[in-house]
Amino acid sequence: MPPADDGPVRHDGWMTDRAASRTAVLVCQGRAAADGRYAAGRFADPVAWDLLDPAERGVVELVRDDGAVPGPGERIAYELVRRAAVGMVPRTIAIDEAVRSGPNAQVVILGAGLDGRAWRMPELAGSVVFEVDHPASQSDKRRRATGLGATTGAQVWVAADLERERLEPALRAAGFDPDSASTWVWEGVVPYLRADDVRAAVGQISDLSAPGSRLVVNYQARSLPTSVMRRTMRVALRLSRQPDPMAGEPWRSLWRPYGIRDLLQDNGFDLVSDADLWELSTGLELPAWANTSLRNGHVAVATRRHGA
Ligand SMILES: C[S@@+](CC[C@H](N)C(=O)[O-])C[C@H]1O[C@@H](n2cnc3c(N)ncnc32)[C@H](O)[C@@H]1O
Repeated sequence: MPPADDGPVRHDGWMTDRAASRTAVLVCQGRAAADGRYAAGRFADPVAWDLLDPAERGVVELVRDDGAVPGPGERIAYELVRRAAVGMVPRTIAIDEAVRSGPNAQVVILGAGLDGRAWRMPELAGSVVFEVDHPASQSDKRRRATGLGATTGAQVWVAADLERERLEPALRAAGFDPDSASTWVWEGVVPYLRADDVRAAVGQISDLSAPGSRLVVNYQARSLPTSVMRRTMRVALRLSRQPDPMAGEPWRSLWRPYGIRDLLQDNGFDLVSDADLWELSTGLELPAWANTSLRNGHVAVATRRHGA
């Protein structure tokens, strides 16, 4: 049985008070809607559609079919997926490029959600991909992935609550080798963790990263217009009695670029790049209305230095 959408979920013999992530579904819907619609030739995620449950696909089809705008009841859900679709394009392209050029014998995807890289990236054919996620979200993904074919390389499931558990024992038990350089993907997770948990996680990632390892972190910058828009959409969802994917997953930490840079540097990582999604969307011909929200999402890439 899949985990329930609310209430405690039993996983591997212990209880968690969290349900499977709904924001993971929203960004997966975004990637499915963007697939073949935006930046063809640069962006593709055919696995996203396969990871969605049938009831989650209708709104994706509406967004893909640009002319078919839904009635007022479904309009907000449609807008959420439409905005997610545009945001996922530069974010995915930038992270994929960083993964391709990093040391990728071991790739750790932190807070993996419905990330399809293990299936869709041929470059990972020789990699061991460790998918780390909250137990409730991971068990939901494993159910969804049952019908998918094999991954390109080896995939290892690691269930861990980053707010309560240390990464090291969970990853070591799964076969992760901290003496071998690795690439870490931390996409769409930082906003959902408290600042102290983000700091603690970076310290743990650093301890587990051999020199030359790469950390790719996507974070959200502080923005009043974005916060107001999120709040407005949530009120509109409530008034129209639509499910709110953000209800159980509030944003808990927003960062400034220099805060992320200092955090990485203090933990032995040298910043290679940090760009917002608007900069990263140059040449991708995304709709102009997306400017504002794209400016607040960032992708930073850092390399673990020697002897730090
Ligand atoms: C918006 S989703 C992003 C998923 C995926 N990285 C992507 O970009 O498609 C947020 C993810 O963070 C995970 N997450 C949030 N809090 C977590 C925690 N305390 N421990 C582990 N994972 C967590 C959720 O389970 C979910 O998979």
